[in-house]
Amino acid sequence: MAQIPLPPGSTLGILGGGQLGRMLALAAARLGFDVSVLERDADSPAGRVGLRTIVGPYTDKAALEELAAEASLVTYEFENVPAEAVLTLQALGVEVAPGPEALAVAQDRIAEKQFLNASGAPTVAYASADTPEEAVAAAAEVGLPALMKTRREGYDGKGQRWVEHAADAAGAFAALGGVPVILEAAADFARELSIIAARGRDGAIAIYPLAENHHEGGILRRSVAPAIATPALVEQAERIARRVLQGLNYVGVIGIELFELRDGRLLVNEIAPRVHNTGPWTQDGCEADQFAQPIRAVAGWPPAPARAFAQVEMLNLLGEEADAWLKFAGEPETRLHLYGKRAALPGRKMGHVNRVRPL
Ligand SMILES: Nc1ncnc2c1ncn2[C@@H]1O[C@H](COP(=O)(O)OP(=O)(O)OP(=O)(O)O)[C@@H](O)[C@H]1O
Ligand SMILES: [Mg+2]
Repeated sequence: MAQIPLPPGSTLGILGGGQLGRMLALAAARLGFDVSVLERDADSPAGRVGLRTIVGPYTDKAALEELAAEASLVTYEFENVPAEAVLTLQALGVEVAPGPEALAVAQDRIAEKQFLNASGAPTVAYASADTPEEAVAAAAEVGLPALMKTRREGYDGKGQRWVEHAADAAGAFAALGGVPVILEAAADFARELSIIAARGRDGAIAIYPLAENHHEGGILRRSVAPAIATPALVEQAERIARRVLQGLNYVGVIGIELFELRDGRLLVNEIAPRVHNTGPWTQDGCEADQFAQPIRAVAGWPPAPARAFAQVEMLNLLGEEADAWLKFAGEPETRLHLYGKRAALPGRKMGHVNRVRPL
């Protein structure tokens, strides 16, 4: 087992080599840690800034053994890490944080909704369905229109279908592959917000200001933070964040996606047990960014202050939008962050810009 607090000079393992892994690796390096990345692609965004890439799928026993041999602690950049990989690492004596409870809850939309409601974090009404007949019954139960989502493995709005009429439920179930689904009542939201919060091993909590998020075609385009919000709304969101962190006995950083209803109530859409895709604004707007938090938390260091000193508009650069890097680099209020991806495929997240204004 690792020495806690983990001293600088130790090696941290990161599961996943994408842009969030890259920014985690950079944050770890800033605190004096070395990083080994476990990732299928030998030439990944995170791997190229880490000390080393161990190439393989998360289920590769030999790759996990290699990671366990060199990393004191392991964290991850996305939540669809197979439970068996976490159990294998634990059996090899390496802790994975955030732990398996948080992963189990975040990997299954039904378990997630049950946990949230039991913790006093409200959600839309929902029902599960494992067969076409159950899908029809679930649609009748939650009311239409309703959003059908696969229970597991969706991201960027993939694995989702709107059901407008009862007669569409069985077809939507089939179109999603006949796998177990959740049917969610439509949230009639005024805005989408997110709140990112960190919790240390000693239970200390740091909460970032709310971000207001805008999606296009299921992909996050733009976040503005700190979002314009009344103190009551901020308080409501922070209460939800505390309940979620405490309910999971959480160590690390979490992203909580929220719907702000027209009457001012907040519902939780989903939680992400990791750095969040709405959180890169914190790199240029806050005293410490979200990427430092999970490194500090797993290492047993105190959470960093999450206060904002600037207002940031974060824009994701998709596909060839990143080709305008020289223009962005020349704008004094713009901070450019590129992920080092080789090919600018349409819709691919190539980087982001943070446009900064003093608060
Ligand atoms: N119950 C709902 N009612 C209305 N809109 C919804 C509902 N659930 C999801 N949405 C819309 O679809 C978007 C994507 O949904 P969700 O966050 O569940 O999917 P995801 O694939 O996990 O997305 P991401 O990876 O981008 O977070 C939400 O941000 C919201 O705009
Ligand atoms: Mg989401």
